[in-house]
Amino acid sequence: MAPALKIGIAGLGTVGASLARILSNRHNKLADICGRPIEIVAVSARDASKDRGIDLSAIQFYTNPVEMAESADIDVFVELIGGQGDPAFSAVRSALSRGCHAVTANKALLARHGVELAGIAEENGVLLNFEAAVAGGIPVIKAMRESLTGNSISRVFGILNGTCNYILTEMERNGLSFEDCLKEAQRLGYAEADPTFDVEGNDTAHKLALLTSLAFGTQIAADDIYLEGISNISIEDIRAADDLGFRIKLLGVAQKTESGIEQRVHPTMVPKNSVIAQVDGVTNAVAIDADVLGELMMSGPGAGGDATASAVMGDIADIAKSRPGHQHGPVLGRPAVHLDPYARARMRSHEGGYFIRLTVEDKAGVFASLAKHMSDNDISLESIVQRPGKNGANGNGDKKTVILVTHATMEDSVRKAVEAISSDGYLLDKPQVIRIERPDS
Ligand code: HSE
Repeated sequence: MAPALKIGIAGLGTVGASLARILSNRHNKLADICGRPIEIVAVSARDASKDRGIDLSAIQFYTNPVEMAESADIDVFVELIGGQGDPAFSAVRSALSRGCHAVTANKALLARHGVELAGIAEENGVLLNFEAAVAGGIPVIKAMRESLTGNSISRVFGILNGTCNYILTEMERNGLSFEDCLKEAQRLGYAEADPTFDVEGNDTAHKLALLTSLAFGTQIAADDIYLEGISNISIEDIRAADDLGFRIKLLGVAQKTESGIEQRVHPTMVPKNSVIAQVDGVTNAVAIDADVLGELMMSGPGAGGDATASAVMGDIADIAKSRPGHQHGPVLGRPAVHLDPYARARMRSHEGGYFIRLTVEDKAGVFASLAKHMSDNDISLESIVQRPGKNGANGNGDKKTVILVTHATMEDSVRKAVEAISSDGYLLDKPQVIRIERPDS
């Protein structure tokens, strides 16, 4: 059997502890599969004395991950620290620069520095694997980087944040408030250290930026993503969606259009009978529209220690199976120096269906005015529903809720129509606009 693959793990939180358990419980099986044992020889964490249920006695302990990356006798640096900057960035850069492979679950780091780190890995002939960075345990990176090479991809979209999907599912199932569902998601260990990263869409955006690069062969452009989170989705929206045959999901969507590539993260209405609408709870899903293959859809556990550790383990095993002198494939599917610049499509040019919920004064002329603004902006309506407003007991209040669903139209037209409606003076609340996405399946 070949000599052991020596790994150093930086960060011993939930994922690190789960990874250490897999490596210890399946040591012999992994050695058989990979043709050599995998040994943890170094770890770094803030506190050496904390009981993590792992025996660290024979392992070199570092409090500084950069020092471990620079000097430990390791073949693979496993980065589970998180965060887009230091120490994660310096540690991974140092490890790659001195010819160590790296495995990371850190989407924020790659969204910011992925192209630079990919370039360093490729110059040094080592791997930078990041399956766990997107959609937890779902093997979407391998699928896009390797299996779909013969396809052109026109759209990739998905539920990429378990916390948001859990919250939206619980709100719908149990009629609970957004805040209560968030607290429960945190208690269950799904949420990021700062949950605003989950609920405001930043975590989804980081993952989407990586998928966009893999799908379209472009440089990672995490700052060029249209972003809306779920914190202003109310039970009223969820019920209205249900009545109209939709569910609300936080989707990340990257799509090729005539004017460039759209990257957008926003609450989205998807038809109840679509496959993605059935994806509930912390589960993630990714759909890829590929020309030769058709629509590929993968779903599975997207958050939590074990799901993430499963993907990290697969990445380490890939390295263990490769042999010295073996030529490694490019990190982002094509060599970092050949990635195209990202050409952003303007959000105002986005074309799709829209749900518009308005709280209006119940008085003559309101409907006529709504209809006029829609017509002035060339918006064709698929349906119009009027309901009693919140204070409209028995339907006799002075408020009404009006829900408009449009046929496919330009975002620019919708924004102009909503601005014009807002300036007419009969709106009693902020208008709610939610985009509709229609998956192929
Ligand atoms: N907070 C993330 C989620 C964890 O909820 O999906 C994985 O990135």
